[in-house]
Amino acid sequence: MFLDCGTALLGWFDQHKRDLPWRRSSDPYGIWVSEIMLQQTRVAAVLEHYSRWMGSFPTVAALAAAEEAEVLALWSGLGYYRRARMLHRAARVLVAEHAGCLPRTSAALRELPGIGAYTAAAVASIAFGEPVAVVDGNVERVVARLLGLPAGAGADRLRAIRAGAQALVSPARPGDSNQAIMELGATVCLPRAPLCLGCPVQPWCRTRGEHPTIARKPLTPRAIAYTLATDTGGRVLLRQRPAEASLMAGMWELPELPAAPPGARVLLRFRHAITVTNYAVSIVALGGATELPGGDAAAGTAERWVPVDELPRLPLTGLARKALRRLGLWPPASVSGSG
Ligand code: ADE
Repeated sequence: MFLDCGTALLGWFDQHKRDLPWRRSSDPYGIWVSEIMLQQTRVAAVLEHYSRWMGSFPTVAALAAAEEAEVLALWSGLGYYRRARMLHRAARVLVAEHAGCLPRTSAALRELPGIGAYTAAAVASIAFGEPVAVVDGNVERVVARLLGLPAGAGADRLRAIRAGAQALVSPARPGDSNQAIMELGATVCLPRAPLCLGCPVQPWCRTRGEHPTIARKPLTPRAIAYTLATDTGGRVLLRQRPAEASLMAGMWELPELPAAPPGARVLLRFRHAITVTNYAVSIVALGGATELPGGDAAAGTAERWVPVDELPRLPLTGLARKALRRLGLWPPASVSGSG
């Protein structure tokens, strides 16, 4: 069963795979960068960042030589910034200990900062041809449906899914097998309303339709307010998050207000989800009822008036970028058109 099913999957991939920039090269570094970016992130968002990243840091050595602020600035908008810090740290380890080259096995790759089982298997199979299965959320769903496993958690279920995924890996084309099953999960075997009529492995599938799934915990709603302060010289006031903040440490954002002051002039409202919180964001004009709360030196924050032209060089939070974009300040005229 798995042999035929795996062959059908590869045939489908050959015909239907998306033309993605990291698939046009066999450079292990580019493949690694793409796999880190793709974790918990939509392909469309990765496409916006990948080419810019590879243009700025074309090699492991270039990434290792960069300042952390530059690295975070290029990551800005992708979220989960720990991934960027770990890529940077791993690049420095590679330069110091591996002559700037990625190790060729999944076991050795896992020794690097920020590389877990998923990334190690993806890079080892796609870049180096190791026949090891990748198991991410998409693969888990596809294999569970194929095998007719009910929704759930548990070690036995995961073992069955790993074994199923491994059985689908072609020893001749392991990277393509893994990408095919991930691609199927992303484009056909969707969580809701899967497109079973266009599915190449439908003959082997025990589910053929939607699977009962365990409901996700709803996001926690939270109101948050920031202030927009600009000066006549075209500068905007930004504040740096503390180095020890649990989220987006060291990144820059608009100054946060304890709450939107009553009577304040609200310039903009939007929603922004970060991990498990759904923020209702208000951007408030400075002046009138709004007083700027002082930067808190004790909490390690810094404030800076930043010329709009220099915004692309700062590691801004995704929320700050979204606000600046909707306020017409991002991208600045000097870089508009480059994304
Ligand atoms: N998701 C993460 N990595 C992927 C890849 N290489 N191909 C398709 N989907 C993916």
